[in-house]
Amino acid sequence: MPKKVAIIGAGNAGGTAAMRIAESGIANVVLIDIAENLAKAKACDLEDARYSLGLDCRIEGTSDFGRLDNADVVVITAGFARKPSMTREDLFTKNAAVVKEVCGNIINFAKSAIVVVVTNPLDAMTYWAFKLLGFPKNRVFGMGASLDSARFASLISKKLFVSTQQIRALVIGSHGETMIPLPRLTTVRGKELAKILPESDISALVQETRQRGAQIVSLYGTGSAYYGPSAAIYEIVHALVTGQAKDIPVSAILDGEYGLCGVAIGVFARIGSRGVEKIIELQLSTEENAALHQSAEMIKTSFKDGL
Ligand code: NAI
Ligand code: 2OP
Repeated sequence: MPKKVAIIGAGNAGGTAAMRIAESGIANVVLIDIAENLAKAKACDLEDARYSLGLDCRIEGTSDFGRLDNADVVVITAGFARKPSMTREDLFTKNAAVVKEVCGNIINFAKSAIVVVVTNPLDAMTYWAFKLLGFPKNRVFGMGASLDSARFASLISKKLFVSTQQIRALVIGSHGETMIPLPRLTTVRGKELAKILPESDISALVQETRQRGAQIVSLYGTGSAYYGPSAAIYEIVHALVTGQAKDIPVSAILDGEYGLCGVAIGVFARIGSRGVEKIIELQLSTEENAALHQSAEMIKTSFKDGL
């Protein structure tokens, strides 16, 4: 029986994620959006791609949340995207209301699903969804740090003219201004980045990684990134539905790891068929650990102030 992945929000991120999942053939996809025609249009369009690509998966578009029934995985991409000059935190109030409505429907129709939050501000919305859903913490987590890690890798690859596949990049912390690229734990062909590039170049790459989302928002002018994000969603969904567990940085609910509790924040974790199967605690330096705690404080404060 093929797995069922429901994507709530058929906009840029949700629609492109649906395309990647459908094209890989790993699951059937249901796209759900309050904009019913948008969800239906994207589903029809994706259905018509199957013949040329030799695919057989089922794709459906609807505004009926009842179609969440029996979903193995629910991806939340519903909500507002930022515009130029906005931070992700500026989306808090509007998107908290969207996530609340969406989570009510998940409770009604997909109680056993694993929920992957994408809506921004990512870490606050992940924690909000965890609170609203009342699911175990392994079944609610957010996509953000893997996208940031992919961006760090992409920028390193361009700088060094090295394949992205020879880079292992790691970014933890918030999916926001306090994200923490970890050059010390980032390698190129197995060699520590700090042994390859001078400090000034690494600082510039770190800064570019932090600004990458804003750069794309500014270039589009009307919305935010979706090709990189949908690839990061696909990587997570693949690990969830195929059972091929993978170590991926995600926004996970912490319960004592790194001395932190009551927060969702980007950490390295094993993602498999049970969701977050294990948080892999890295040996952080004193500065890295302090940065993680500072980032967690920022997320907690924005959550407290936002609600
Ligand atoms: P978009 O505007 O293209 O799509 C959002 C969709 O959500 C719209 O089609 C809208 O009708 C739908 N929607 C709104 N309220 C809804 C509700 N209550 N139920 C169902 N659907 C609803 O936006 P885009 O680019 O797809 O981004 C969506 C969200 O994901 C934004 O908050 C954005 O910031 C976030 N995002 C986060 C990323 C991450 O790395 N965590 C990456 C990319 C986007
Ligand atoms: C990004 O970083 C929108 O948060 C998303 O592109």
